[in-house]
Parts: sequence; C-alpha cells; structure tokens
Amino acid sequence: MDKFVIRGGNPLVGTIRVSGAKNSALPCMAAAILTEEEVILENIPQVRDIATEQRLLASMGAEVELGYGSAEHRTTICCRTLSDPVAKYEIVKTMRASSLVLGPLVARAGMARVAMPGGCAIGGRPIDLHIAGLEKMGATITQEHGYLEARADRLRGAHLVFDKITVTGTEDLLMAAVLAEGETLMENCAREPEVTDLATLLIAMGARIEGAGTATIRVQGVPRLHGARHRINPDRIEAGTFLVAGAITRGDLIVADCNPSHLGAVITKLQESGARIDILSPDEIRVQADGPLRAADISTEEYPGFPTDMQAQYMALATQAEGVSVVKENIFENRFMHVQELVRMGANIKLDGRTATVRGPAKLSAAAVMCSDLRASASLVLAALVADGESILDRVYHMDRGYEHIEEKLCGVGAQIQRLGNIFAPKEEEVVAG
Ligand code: EPZ
Repeated sequence: MDKFVIRGGNPLVGTIRVSGAKNSALPCMAAAILTEEEVILENIPQVRDIATEQRLLASMGAEVELGYGSAEHRTTICCRTLSDPVAKYEIVKTMRASSLVLGPLVARAGMARVAMPGGCAIGGRPIDLHIAGLEKMGATITQEHGYLEARADRLRGAHLVFDKITVTGTEDLLMAAVLAEGETLMENCAREPEVTDLATLLIAMGARIEGAGTATIRVQGVPRLHGARHRINPDRIEAGTFLVAGAITRGDLIVADCNPSHLGAVITKLQESGARIDILSPDEIRVQADGPLRAADISTEEYPGFPTDMQAQYMALATQAEGVSVVKENIFENRFMHVQELVRMGANIKLDGRTATVRGPAKLSAAAVMCSDLRASASLVLAALVADGESILDRVYHMDRGYEHIEEKLCGVGAQIQRLGNIFAPKEEEVVAG
C-alpha cells in the first residue's frame, strides 16, 4: 500500500501544470458506447479512475487503446461490438461513476446490466434519479442480486425534471436522450463544466443538444451518432487544489493549463481569505500569499457555487487563517472524513452535523495520517505541506484516483514529497470509492 512522506515548511514557487479533468473524461469515454465508430479523446489524465473505466469498457467488448509516448494523454475507443453490455461488480465497486455506462448502453444496445454502485466513503450515492429518468423514457428496469437491469427497444424522448441536481445523472440521461425517439426536455440539470464538455463531444458526434451548461437542456434524438475527436477540459478541481497549495504554503505559484472561468467561486473565496490571485492568461492563474490569511465561511453548492470537491482542500487552508471559518457541506452527507485527521495534526475543528467550525491559525505538526477518499487525501497533503516535520500519509491510492503524478508536480515547485511502496502492487484493500 503506497504512502507519501511529506516534509512541511517549503513555500511552493514556480509553475505547476494541470491535467485533463477526470470528471469530464469519464462521461466522454462512456459516450463512445453510443457509436460504432472510433472516438478519440485528448488530454486524458493518467489516473486510476481512467484505467478503471478503460477496463470497464474493454470488459464489455470495446476496443480501448491507450496512447503512449507523446500521445500518452490520448485514448481511442471503438465500441463496434459490445459483446457483453454488463458493468460487473468487481469494477463498479471501485468506481461508482461506472453507472455512467447505463444510459448509453440502453440507448445503443437496448439493454444494460450494471452492478448497483452502493455507497462510498462520502455518502450513500444513490442513482435513483438516473433510474427514474430512464423509466420515464420507456426503459423497463429490474433490480436483483445487486444488479440493475434496464431494457428498451428504443428510448422515447420525455420531459424530465430532476428532483435534485445530479451531475452524473444529468450526463447519464443526456447520453440516453441523444439516440431516443423524439425530443427530450431536461429541467433542473447540473450546470457543471463537465456536462458542457460532454455535450460538446456529443454534438461533435452528431447529437442535437441545446442548453448544456444551463438548468434546461433540450435534445432532439437522432438515429445514430458517428465518431469524433475531442479534447477534454482542464481539471478545475486539480487547479483549485493547486491554488490552495500556493496560498497555504505562502508561496508564489503559477497554475498553468487551467481554465480560470471554471474557478470563479474558488478564486473569490481565496481572495476573501487574503490570497492574491492574478489571471495571467486564458489558461494561467498566479496565486501569492505572503501576508496573514483571513477566516472566511464556505457553503458548498452546485456549480457555479463553491464546489463540494474543493471543501476538504479549503478546510486545510482555513486551519491557517486568523479567525473562525464556518464550513457547510450541503451536497454529501459524510464528506468530513478529513476532519479528524486534520485534528490529529493540531487543527482546531468542531463538527456539528454538516457544519464544521474551524478556528485558526493552528500550528500543525507532522503526523501519520490515513487517506479515506479522493479529496480528503488532497486536504491531508495540503496540511502536511505546512506541518512542522515529516508526515506519513497512508492509502494514497485514493489520491491516485484523481490526481496525475501529484508528487512529481508538487516536487517540481519546491515541495518535499516522497512516495513509498510499489505503486503497481495489487490493491486488494481498495474499498468502494467515490
Ligand atoms: C459527481 O458525482 C462527481 N463525480 C463528484 O466528484 C462530485 O463530488 C459530485 O458530482 C458533485 O459535484 C463525477 O463526476 C464522476 P451527484 P455524482 O449525482 O454525479 C444525490 C470527485 O471527488 N443523488 O451530483 O455522483 C447524491 O447523493 C467526485 O471527483 C441522489 O440522491 O454526484 C448527492 O447528495 C466525488 N440520487 C447529490 O445528489 C441520484 O440519483 C449530488 O450528487 C443521484 C444523486
């Protein structure tokens, strides 16, 4: 099991590059199911969830080719034949985003068997809204032996109104709608940039979509889609994580290959906290923080609000800010797994349901801590970068799910991080993931 050894105290200085967005790549890879032709995706991050999705697609009969050398961030997917449209539990249990194949499989093959994802470290993670939408479009859905089976000769366009805003629910049903008979009107949709990225790919494949990125999406179904080439958006959460890293270490960091327009809420909050943020170009942001950090409250909301995927990282920063920061987590019911680990490093955080009260500044001391999920891991890395001494972070495979070569990137701007253990060893202990 891999560990990180991190010695705190170094300000991060220099330029750090952002990879493609895992949460864009996953639905875009699933979209390849919708056509018999090749789909080529560029700027794919080399992270474990992408490898999991490649295994999932290959297990269903897809040809999935990974680029290498100068093309190492490219994947070519061809679903000419889908011999086994089943998302098996062994794969789904390690990545609940596997449910993203549900809509495209039913739309393309008329049937899908997908292991129910089950909960994960941050919450129950139900997919009832995905199921309700497919049933409204005419699919017959049964659940038994931990699997969900969906069948439909051809999905019909429908008027879908989401009870709750769901990112992958919006993506799953958007992919179902593009091949459905007639028009689908989707309301109360997620507005995340990852939805827009997926829609851009689908339109390049011949889909007819209006309104992606807004709460109302209108789709005219078409009989078939063709192949396409598409470049995945930069990862806004990785970029946000690096901005916090520059601020918490009192550094001077340029975050490159990012999209500042996707980071409005995060940039505003960092400026409120006392960091200096300059947009240097359409894909570069500079963060500096040499003065004291100020406490500021956050309340996680759907995009364009403050992202839940940045809550843990922001909390690490709040431990260093002067004053009391109130952190409200409104999206997931259990997304404070990082709190007790931060407290073990010396943070002053009190939990009350979905609200954490952070009092700072607290002097953090290095400790042996345990990663529990993807973004909690990022929070512990940020805390270790300013803790006094050498911290040991265990179960960093959680981090490897969504951050590409994170230790090399951070070492490149002055961090002292060393990975221990064989990153290629099997990870039987992998638990159900976010
Ligand atoms: C996506 O998860 C992201 N994952 C998550 O990122 C992110 O935290 C989340 O959106 C919120 O922004 C991917 O895109 C692969 P939701 P998703 O459906 O789609 C409830 C990371 O760290 N809900 O928007 O699964 C749900 O329980 C990961 O990169 C239902 O009740 O999240 C939650 O409370 C973690 N029924 C809320 O909606 C449903 O059918 C939002 O969940 C679906 C969701």
